[in-house]
Amino acid sequence: MKLLVTGGAGYIGSVVSALLLEAQHEVVVLDDLSTGHEDAVPAGARLVRGTLRDTAAEVLGGAGFDAVLHFAAKSLVGESVQNPALYWDKNLGESLALLDAMRVTGVRKIVFSSTAATYGEPESTPILETDPTRPTNPYGASKLAIDTALGEYARLHGIGGVSLRYFNVAGAYGTLGERHTVETHLIPNVLKAAGAEDGEPVKMFGDDYPTPDGTCIRDYIHVEDLGRAHLLALDACEPGAHEIYNLGSGTGNSVREVVEVCREVTGRDVPAEVAPRRAGDPAVLVASSDKIQSELGWKPEHDLRAMVGDAWTFIRSR
Ligand code: UFG
Repeated sequence: MKLLVTGGAGYIGSVVSALLLEAQHEVVVLDDLSTGHEDAVPAGARLVRGTLRDTAAEVLGGAGFDAVLHFAAKSLVGESVQNPALYWDKNLGESLALLDAMRVTGVRKIVFSSTAATYGEPESTPILETDPTRPTNPYGASKLAIDTALGEYARLHGIGGVSLRYFNVAGAYGTLGERHTVETHLIPNVLKAAGAEDGEPVKMFGDDYPTPDGTCIRDYIHVEDLGRAHLLALDACEPGAHEIYNLGSGTGNSVREVVEVCREVTGRDVPAEVAPRRAGDPAVLVASSDKIQSELGWKPEHDLRAMVGDAWTFIRSR
């Protein structure tokens, strides 16, 4: 297939681009390089630099595209609370421009990178796709609005869409890993403390949550397992239908457990200290991924230890 990957210079988009190329697809990456890296675009993919609003119609109009995989987005929860307009504009606004470019040019399939943040604070765990969506920040709200728009474009314009709701993505795939200028995620921050010569500890945000060890529990999923789900989702796009699948490993690990696994994998005495709670963190977020496992035959193959090991190898190679 000839595929457009928006945000293919970012962490997840670049890994999925690499997997698509390995599966013999033709890949064109569209990325404005605002947070992505040109050298993360895998060899064999063509990079077009631009925003969706300015360039999606032109690129798709070049004909012959079979589908779009849409990763380009702003993804910092804290930033979205400070500057909601940026998230509505860049996430929802640019996605609408992309959907409309697809409608006009007749491209019929899209796999979209949605998020667990669409659910907000869950009433029960593990989270099912049918659970209420009550996002607690503009980032999650903007992604939920795109899921809704995808449903409308499927119903009204015959597009086939799949939204994959990611839980906590971690790890690396070969030379492709997390390289955020502002790093907010737990595993890279713990590994930074593992490698730091100044002994700067990683902060564990809150140890008074209603969990067994008092720290927050999350569902970590290896970026390669996550990436492979996109190939299955692509095949599952049915014209006129929009499906939503959670993507997590179905097991929860606490912040303290993650720090402990990082100590074991790196063999280093990772300094860590308890800090106040971070605003807006739910105590427990764990996915049910029964739907994607039973309907698309996906299953996670890497555990937390493998995620930490691959992320550590990636960090030390840079
Ligand atoms: N944490 C720390 N110290 C750090 C970083 C994080 O203790 O230095 C804690 C957080 O408080 C949280 C857990 O580690 O309890 C995981 O935090 P991350 O920032 O790694 O991930 P989140 O669960 O906050 O966010 C992830 C995605 C978001 C998405 C969200 C959906 O990264 O894009 O899940 O719930 F919005």
